[in-house]
Amino acid sequence: MTTRIAPHEIASDLRARRERWLPRGLSIGSEVVVARGRGATVWDEAGKEYVDFAGGIGTMNVGHSHPVVVEAIRAQAERSTHTCIHVAAYEGYLRLAERLAEIAPGPGEKKTLLVNSGAEAVENAIKIARAATGRAAVVAFRGGFHGRTFLAVSLTGKERPYRTDIAQRAPDVYHVPYPYPYRPPAGVRPEDVVLHSLRSIEDLFATEIAAERVAAIIVEPVLGESGFIVPPRGFLTGLRSLCDRHGIVLIADEIQTGFGRTGRMFAVQHENVVPDILVMAKSLAAGLPLAAVVGRADVMDAMEPGGLGGTYGGNPVACAAALAVLDVFEREHLVERAVEIGTRLRAGLTDLQRQWPLVGDVRGLGAMVAAELVTDRTTREPAKAQTERIHDACWKGGLLLAKAGLYGNVIRLLPPLVASSDEIDRGLAILAEAVRREAAAA
Ligand SMILES: Cc1ncc(COP(=O)(O)O)c(C=O)c1O
Repeated sequence: MTTRIAPHEIASDLRARRERWLPRGLSIGSEVVVARGRGATVWDEAGKEYVDFAGGIGTMNVGHSHPVVVEAIRAQAERSTHTCIHVAAYEGYLRLAERLAEIAPGPGEKKTLLVNSGAEAVENAIKIARAATGRAAVVAFRGGFHGRTFLAVSLTGKERPYRTDIAQRAPDVYHVPYPYPYRPPAGVRPEDVVLHSLRSIEDLFATEIAAERVAAIIVEPVLGESGFIVPPRGFLTGLRSLCDRHGIVLIADEIQTGFGRTGRMFAVQHENVVPDILVMAKSLAAGLPLAAVVGRADVMDAMEPGGLGGTYGGNPVACAAALAVLDVFEREHLVERAVEIGTRLRAGLTDLQRQWPLVGDVRGLGAMVAAELVTDRTTREPAKAQTERIHDACWKGGLLLAKAGLYGNVIRLLPPLVASSDEIDRGLAILAEAVRREAAAA
């Protein structure tokens, strides 16, 4: 007979093992030890059920262990687990490159490089842009997040916890403001944040780095890590024309926004903007380590043979998972479903905003929805401690969530796009109860 383990025993065991074996810099958001998952639900080692609104921080758009993906992984693993593209080609890599070129926005020929992680995709996109232009400088945004490797973290525009402990940053990176209507810079009206941001880039070109020395502008179409900040319309088109004017490569980092999350396959499609390079990862292969750099063929061809690649990039099992993900998107109409889920989530959060002054702002695009919490609606003082307590109350109550925000005061919702309406409502109910308790205690 197996003895059922109590959740508090699992939690204390986790705390001890984590302290003993894992580095302090690796944060784990909850004390849940996941044993299995299906769709938008996961179960812990004790059999307790959790609705998953964290979705592997955006990797689980097709849901946990989708049967079509599981079968594709199994079948490919039986055929071959790896050969390395530098040694010999295989169907999965080629087919995935074809399919990603088909779904990436814009006409014209596109080419694809497959790598292992979002940060690696970002690094390669910059490398390719530098090779294509013969220029070095890169413009990124304050509040942007592009990963934790050396160049990616240097592009990241959020200091804590990513950059404070490293003494050096990669050179030739310049940061400019991202349009943040809820917190506009002093003297700027919320309706002018796009203009302010675009002018800041022109100022940068006039004062610090000439436009003709800039290789790329890298942008998240919606800021993910910094709290689902949706730039008003005109921002992405403004960047596109600025890049066109100066021969700069526009890189869209769709690592979090891609694969249906915002109600379009890619978020740039909301403004009909075609980036020169689009980087994708996370939900591409349902959580298996795979990322892609998809771009204009002439730009992607800038590097010499051998200049791109890596031992594991485009692993065949991960490619099989990604091809299955694309099939699931088509068959289950997940892009359309993202719109429905988003409407439901937003209604739930707006309801909380009406009831509790703690919920200062509700925003998002499609099923990428967030609430920014404040201690005072007038001063908009970030409610960081309250956000942490609500987050903890949620996972204890059966809802996995991810926090975000420049000031750590945002609750972001990224449920799998296969979530049922019942799962969405159950998750929202747990969140509502946690917010009610926190607001009532204030
Ligand atoms: C927009 C964005 N870019 C880059 C990354 C880095 O991806 P990875 O963690 O796979 O390196 C992330 C991860 O959260 C992200 O959200």
